[in-house]
Amino acid sequence: MDVKDLRVNGKRLQESLEIMAKIGGTENNGVQRCAATDEDKIARDLLSKWYKECGCELILDEMGNMFAIRKGKNPELGAVMSGSHADTQRPGGRFDGILGVLAALEVMRTINDNHIELERDLIITNWTNEEGGWFAPACMGSGVWVGNLTKEFAYARKDRDGISTFGEELERIGYKGTYPCSYKAWNIDAAYELHIEQGPQLYDEKLQIGVPKGILCLHWYDIYLEGTANQVGPTPMHGRNDALLAFSEMNLVVNNVTHQMGNMVGTVGEIQNYPNSRNIIPSKVHFTVDIRSWDDEHAQKAWEMMKKEFEIIAQRRGCPIRTEETWKVEHAPFDAELFDRVIQTADELGYSSKRMVSGAGHDMSEVNKITRGAMIFVPSIDGRSHVECEDTPYEDCERGTNVLLHCLIKSAS
Ligand code: GLV
Ligand code: MN
Ligand code: MN
Repeated sequence: MDVKDLRVNGKRLQESLEIMAKIGGTENNGVQRCAATDEDKIARDLLSKWYKECGCELILDEMGNMFAIRKGKNPELGAVMSGSHADTQRPGGRFDGILGVLAALEVMRTINDNHIELERDLIITNWTNEEGGWFAPACMGSGVWVGNLTKEFAYARKDRDGISTFGEELERIGYKGTYPCSYKAWNIDAAYELHIEQGPQLYDEKLQIGVPKGILCLHWYDIYLEGTANQVGPTPMHGRNDALLAFSEMNLVVNNVTHQMGNMVGTVGEIQNYPNSRNIIPSKVHFTVDIRSWDDEHAQKAWEMMKKEFEIIAQRRGCPIRTEETWKVEHAPFDAELFDRVIQTADELGYSSKRMVSGAGHDMSEVNKITRGAMIFVPSIDGRSHVECEDTPYEDCERGTNVLLHCLIKSAS
């Protein structure tokens, strides 16, 4: 068969996705499989089995990143890499991340079935803790791999309940490897990641493939407020130091500044209120701010405006404030040649496509720093993601995987 007529096995891809969705499957048809939890271990065990069945060499690094390698004829040439993440939000959906992991596996299976010899090594990956919803920050495995975070910082991060550390939990599930977690231990020529769009554009416009020119920057902040706890009944309204009330004003600041500045999004997604009782004045609040833009400096300016406003509010409400800059990834512009290759490949396969920008963060935000990177998006029904009802038709998953197949073959040949 002519290589250009090659197609992945859509049925096998669907079956793999369905089997995976049972691991951490929720009552509402979603998935809860956070990094370094028991469910993550079960998913990793299954991936290891599938990778081995493909005849791959398996490498596990110090951050638990999994690499399955299929040797090419000229391993001294840089490898071509593809993958995503098997962890989810808490709770999350059945496609975010895992589609890219299983699509890369389906490509490997298809190439094996057809006995195709590639010049370059093909490496498929499962990056650890992309979501950062249970252990913040996000893109931990890929972030340490490219040197944006240190391994020690990642190991010491506490779960959202503040109970155990990421390092302890990774070790507990048996996935803290010994291979150095650094891109310097690898020779990578190009990387692709297939992902659901997680937004409404493809679905609304009835288009099949999204081709992002890059990913917005991601800035994460943690803010801690101190108030004075007291009985709500006898304590007069004036003179209170209510940390939750101070937070309420700050939440509006995030929204207002984001609207005023434009070309960005800003969100408070997490808040912890203490002691969280209806008849105690809140004495402590922890909340997060997530700011994203194509323009890193613009995002930075927005944070500085927010922080200034926060300090004024904290002073007025008598609630001391502490801010932490938890995580930063610059915007990631993709390689022009690979971007064109994705568009051209979609055209050749007869799929409609759209150029866009990714508002969601991905492991490719990090991996793109040390090699040439590109992504392939498929539609999200109703543009919903990070929710249990997240859905993508299997035909779209198959189309995206065919684009991935041909991009990988072209890059590895
Ligand atoms: C990753 O899931 C993100 O927050 O965009
Ligand atoms: Mn994802
Ligand atoms: Mn996600």
